[in-house]
Amino acid sequence: MLEDTSFAIHPGKEKIIENTDYRDIGNLVQKHFEHGVLTAHSETGELKVLFYRDDIVRFVMNPFGQASLKSSPALIKEPESVDVTFTETNSLIVLESKLLKVEINKEPLRVTIFDQEGRLIVREGKKGMGYKPSKEVICYKEMGEKDHFYGFGEKTGFLDKRGEKMTMWNSDVYAPHNPETDALYQSIPFFITLRDGKAHGIFFDNTFKSTFDLRTEEEYYSFMAEGGQIDYYLFAGPSMKEVLEQYTTLTGRIPIPPKWAIGYHQSRYSYETEQEVREIANTFLEKGIPLDVIYLDIHYMDGYRVFTFDQNRFPNPKQLVKDLKEKGIRVVPIVDPGVKEDPEYDVYQEGVKGDHFCKYIEGNIYFGDVWPGNSAFPDFTSEKVRKWWGEKHKFYSDLGIDGIWNDMNEPAVFNETKTMDVKVMHENDGDPKTHRELHNLYGLLMGNATYNGMKQHLQGKRPFLLTRSGFSGVQRYAAVWTGDNRSFWEHLQMSLPMVMNLGLSGIPFAGSDVGGFAHDSNGELLARWTQVGAFTPYFRNHSALGFARQEPWSFGEKYEKVIKKYIQLRYKWLPQLYTLFAEAHRTGTPIMRPLVMEYPNDANTYNLSDQFMIGDNVVIAPIVHPFVTHRVVYLPAGRWVDYWTGKILEGNQHHLIQAELDVLPIYVKEGTMIALGAVKQNTNEKDETLTLHLYKSELSTYQFTLYDDDGLSFDYEKGNYLRKIIKVTCQEKEVHLEIKDEGNFKPDWRTLELIVHHGESDINVYVNGKRLSDIKSNTDLPTYVIEQN
Ligand code: GLC
Repeated sequence: MLEDTSFAIHPGKEKIIENTDYRDIGNLVQKHFEHGVLTAHSETGELKVLFYRDDIVRFVMNPFGQASLKSSPALIKEPESVDVTFTETNSLIVLESKLLKVEINKEPLRVTIFDQEGRLIVREGKKGMGYKPSKEVICYKEMGEKDHFYGFGEKTGFLDKRGEKMTMWNSDVYAPHNPETDALYQSIPFFITLRDGKAHGIFFDNTFKSTFDLRTEEEYYSFMAEGGQIDYYLFAGPSMKEVLEQYTTLTGRIPIPPKWAIGYHQSRYSYETEQEVREIANTFLEKGIPLDVIYLDIHYMDGYRVFTFDQNRFPNPKQLVKDLKEKGIRVVPIVDPGVKEDPEYDVYQEGVKGDHFCKYIEGNIYFGDVWPGNSAFPDFTSEKVRKWWGEKHKFYSDLGIDGIWNDMNEPAVFNETKTMDVKVMHENDGDPKTHRELHNLYGLLMGNATYNGMKQHLQGKRPFLLTRSGFSGVQRYAAVWTGDNRSFWEHLQMSLPMVMNLGLSGIPFAGSDVGGFAHDSNGELLARWTQVGAFTPYFRNHSALGFARQEPWSFGEKYEKVIKKYIQLRYKWLPQLYTLFAEAHRTGTPIMRPLVMEYPNDANTYNLSDQFMIGDNVVIAPIVHPFVTHRVVYLPAGRWVDYWTGKILEGNQHHLIQAELDVLPIYVKEGTMIALGAVKQNTNEKDETLTLHLYKSELSTYQFTLYDDDGLSFDYEKGNYLRKIIKVTCQEKEVHLEIKDEGNFKPDWRTLELIVHHGESDINVYVNGKRLSDIKSNTDLPTYVIEQN
């Protein structure tokens, strides 16, 4: 308690800086190069270096003994066979692939990496790899004056993490998140460094509590862990997109979500009865506010027992799910890991009998207090348990449910440490390890169990999973929301760099609780937050028990109108967003991205935290302050078209712009294209017409790709998709589109239309060399039919 007062800074209570006192691994004493793998011994331990691809190299240093090549479950890829040349001089060992050159200095043992164009990527100087006798490990790298750092998963603060010190330890943090809040729910020990417009990445594959220190020393940064090995992968870049392609080659990418999962979602802790859920659904329908999903938070259960419904509150869940589905609305229930200790509860019985719960080495089950009271926790590190948990989800799929919300899976426990006893010994598929070592994997492995179970039950339909906790690789199973934020303007502001950095950490399907979870929201905040949410990959309004309700109509008509307008805008933009989701699935490139990703040579973008891009051609500059209707927008090189007014703004400049409450500033780059559909009530409604909007320039080329598939099944994996590649060339009085289709999906839309913005009235439009004639449309812009199916 005293720690919350000035007593915390009482003289003599200064914090000790942890990464002092390390011992160096010393000189190289012996080495051996075989089958492309270098094994080198230092004075204290062993180093292995191996290439996964020409542009990915892995270093494993165990300062205490043999280096093990066993990876964490983040990894899904084995090394490819890479031609590596080995050379040696008196002082150096050099390993080279086609793209990278690794120099290992012998005395002391130090690593320097260049690309084959001579660009220095990383260097260890006076400091390199080290350890403490207490088994902590550390790796230092030189930090250049011009280095900027991104990624690190879910962190508070601004976009560029230079100057920060960050801990990876999955934590349930209900206390208000602020710039000094460190460990949150996700641990993604991966980052991207940008130097002089070129990028490289490092993934530290260590599941212990780890720290990334970009603050303590001016010339070095470091990553350290409480145990395990120094096991990291270097990704050569040289662009941020390439780094993400490289990182997600190892840790996986998002499956393409079902279309309904990228619509608007409404949640509340909790909609407490069947009646209330029906009323919420009906209100959305009556008011014509689009909606795809309603969430059931913990009150749906019988005494918070997972895989049950409370008979009084939800007497007929099957009927409820069916009725809502007929209206195009899905129900997603919460499933926490804690299983109530209750000898009369079948899930608990099965768990005990099947030996599915986390235990101490002595054999006794670990119990912790969560919503249901004293609870046991499935040991997801065991394949057998993951299978059991997955099978249990038949309970939900049999009710017609195809989405699950995983929460409290850090795992959160109501005690001093906020989590499971670190002494618990996980089964870990026959290689038992303590919770201290595997804590950060709990959410990832619960996601694995849940997603795979649901996938099996849904028989070809795509499941949707939302998770609070995870580790690198969680993107393969789940969307991530940023946990318990508050209805503070500061939290709206903070959500932008947080979600952008999640995207730069391989997790493109992310978002924050729109309107804020705890604390009372208000109309203006909800309206502005919904504007942002409309362009955030994951779009859910959620609020907590005991605070103001925040459904779109909660703060009066004035705000409802604005909120509705932006939920509708989301649906209009779904074809564009869905295309970007498919791109994220294919390449790892995020949907919502910082400007620095597209403009890495423009220093104005390096720490731009209050604007973002959707794809490579749309800048969104939301208002994130109360009672403010003006802001500065930075537009990078090119000319930009105001989405609402058509006005052109010059790039490479800051602009003071005005945005009344009903305006979210959106700018589309001149010379580029977006694809929009119609406003809908939900994603069950199909577009009759899809419209390509071309923002014509005097002279430019652009490649646009439109992606579509059935939005529900996995048939896209078998080629049942449409990828329409459109090469756009603008000339003074002409527009040429060269269109090529890939895949064999026949889309629902019958007509593909083109609208040309700010073109002259006498332009000619050609598609694959054939001239189109203008049709009459309900806009006064020249409109053409490209295709009629
Ligand atoms: C946690 C979640 C929150 C949820 C609540 C009750 O605080 O983060 O979203 O509503 O638990 O289940």
